[in-house]
Amino acid sequence: MIFESHAHYDDEQFDEDRDALLQALPQHNVGAIVNVGSSLESSEASIALAEAYDYVYASVGVHPDEVGDLTQESMAALRTLAMHPKVVAIGEIGLDYYRKEEEGTDYKDVQKQWFQQQLELAALLRKPVIVHSREAAEDTLHILEYFYAKHPEIYNPGVIHCFSYSPEIAAAYTNMGFYIGVGGVVTFRNAKKLVETVKYTPIDRILVETDSPYLAPEPNRGKRNDSSNIRYVIEKIAQIKEMTPEDVERQTEINARNMYGI
Ligand code: NI
Repeated sequence: MIFESHAHYDDEQFDEDRDALLQALPQHNVGAIVNVGSSLESSEASIALAEAYDYVYASVGVHPDEVGDLTQESMAALRTLAMHPKVVAIGEIGLDYYRKEEEGTDYKDVQKQWFQQQLELAALLRKPVIVHSREAAEDTLHILEYFYAKHPEIYNPGVIHCFSYSPEIAAAYTNMGFYIGVGGVVTFRNAKKLVETVKYTPIDRILVETDSPYLAPEPNRGKRNDSSNIRYVIEKIAQIKEMTPEDVERQTEINARNMYGI
C-alpha cells in the first residue's frame, strides 16, 4: 500500500466532498495518510480527521507564513495538541522567504524564532518534524545543523517536505538522519534539479507525498490535488531510479512508518 506522508484534507477546497474522497482512498491503494497542520486551527482540524479515520494521522505545527500572530499562549496550546495519541509529528514548520520582501526586514528573524521554538517542542516530545523550506536553503540548514548538534539524542529528526534543493543539500540532510519528501513537482518538465536529487538520494531516505490540495503532478497539473495522484509521483521516482513502482511503493511505506513510528 501507499503511504501518503503529507496532505491537507482540512483545506476548504475539500469542503464539498471531503468524506467521500477520504473514504475512497484505500481503494486507490492509499492506506495511510498524514494530515499536516499549518496553523493552530488546521492542527486542530487535522486531529479531528485523525479521530474520524483509522488510517489518517495528524501532524501539528505552524507554517512560517502563519507565525506572525503567535504568542507563548499559542505555543502552550500547540503543546497540548501535540500530546494527542494520533499526532505523529510536529509540522509543518520552517522558513519561507518567497515573495516576502514587502513585509519589511524582520520577517526572517520572526520565522527563525518560531521555527526554533517548535523544534524545541518536537525534541521535548520526542517527535520528528516536518520541515517546510522555500528559498531559504542556507538558513534552514544552519538552524537544523545547530539544533541537532545540540540534541545528539535525536536519531529520527524528520523530513524535509516538498524538497526543492540540490543533491548536495539533500545529502547534508540525509547524513543528519532526515528523509527527503518528494511530491508532484518531480513530474514537472522544469524539475531538472529535483530529478537529479532523486537520482542521487538513496531510496531508503525518500518519502512520497502530494501536499494536496496543492501541487498536483502531471498529467493533472493545475487541478485540485488528492492522494490518488500519488501514483504519478511513485511512477516518476521508479523511472528515475530504474526500479519498479511496486518496489518504490514498498520502500517508501517502510520509510514513512519508520519515521512516523506507526
Ligand atoms: Ni504542506
